[in-house]
Amino acid sequence: MDAIRFSDDALYLLDQTRLPAQEVWLRYTDFRQAAQAIRTMVVRGAPAIGITAAYAYCLAALSGEDLERAEAVLRASRPTAVNLFWALERMERAAARCGGDPAALIAEARAIHREDVEMNKAMGRLGAEVVPNRARILTHCNAGALATGGYGTALGVVRAAHSQGKVSMVYCDETRPLLQGARLTAYELVRDHIPATLITDSMAAALMAQGKIDLVVVGCDRMAANGDFANKIGTYSAAVNARYHGIPFYTALPSSTIDLSIPDGSGIPIEERAPEEVTHLAGTPTAPGGVEVSNPAFDVTPHTLLTGIITERGIVYPPFAEKLASLFSV
Ligand code: MRU
Repeated sequence: MDAIRFSDDALYLLDQTRLPAQEVWLRYTDFRQAAQAIRTMVVRGAPAIGITAAYAYCLAALSGEDLERAEAVLRASRPTAVNLFWALERMERAAARCGGDPAALIAEARAIHREDVEMNKAMGRLGAEVVPNRARILTHCNAGALATGGYGTALGVVRAAHSQGKVSMVYCDETRPLLQGARLTAYELVRDHIPATLITDSMAAALMAQGKIDLVVVGCDRMAANGDFANKIGTYSAAVNARYHGIPFYTALPSSTIDLSIPDGSGIPIEERAPEEVTHLAGTPTAPGGVEVSNPAFDVTPHTLLTGIITERGIVYPPFAEKLASLFSV
């Protein structure tokens, strides 16, 4: 399964706002519209946002636009996932090397895309080792093929463990308010014939108390140098609940999601999204007009709640700061 394609000088995105009801591919030749697609979550998930931005940068080069300006517009599309900035900085360095030649830039964007899939497969292979036999796994949001170049980070671990016959059930938090768990994770798992049970976010603690969850694995939008990490709102609750019930809690992420320039989670910018995402469901009001709304799209889970960090270079266990620095400093 994939959600991002580039061919004949155009970018194609599977519109994730319409899944699972409709599978519609949209075509982009203008980088501004691609930036808008990131903003409106036609494409979402940290690695997928980075890959899309890299291709959008190529669209700007193909139409002879000012690349610095294009980069500024793309950088403003979403603030939390560091992969966006990582990919754009890589494209900027490539542009400096090749003088902005579109063919060379497209080759660089394709490399970013290909390497992301390779990293996912590597972390899937490594992460499957911590999955016990007959595992019942809880995941939050969507960290699958749709959120990446393909295969997935947290769902990459699930896919690899499932191919080894180790997965008895994947519990998907529906993930309020935009329902990525219900609309996207459940969709991916059902398509791949991986046993999946959809729950509302508030059911997870009760399942843990009943002994029905063996392991939690989630994705990540940005990890600070000490291992604190931002992921979809609700991840922190899942981590607190897992710790209380003595359940191992992992995040899976490629090196492009690690931001060693930020010492701890307090420095990670958290996106605040429109109140309508909370006050309406599919356009229908579910709250009285005039009520105040808080809608942070992400929360920060402290590293102290993590059992381990699954990366393409190995699984990192505490003390995280030293080990992240030695594995990922350039
Ligand atoms: O707001 P979203 O849907 O972009 O949030 C996505 C997540 O929080 C994912 O868990 C994260 O990006 C990791 S994706 C491999």
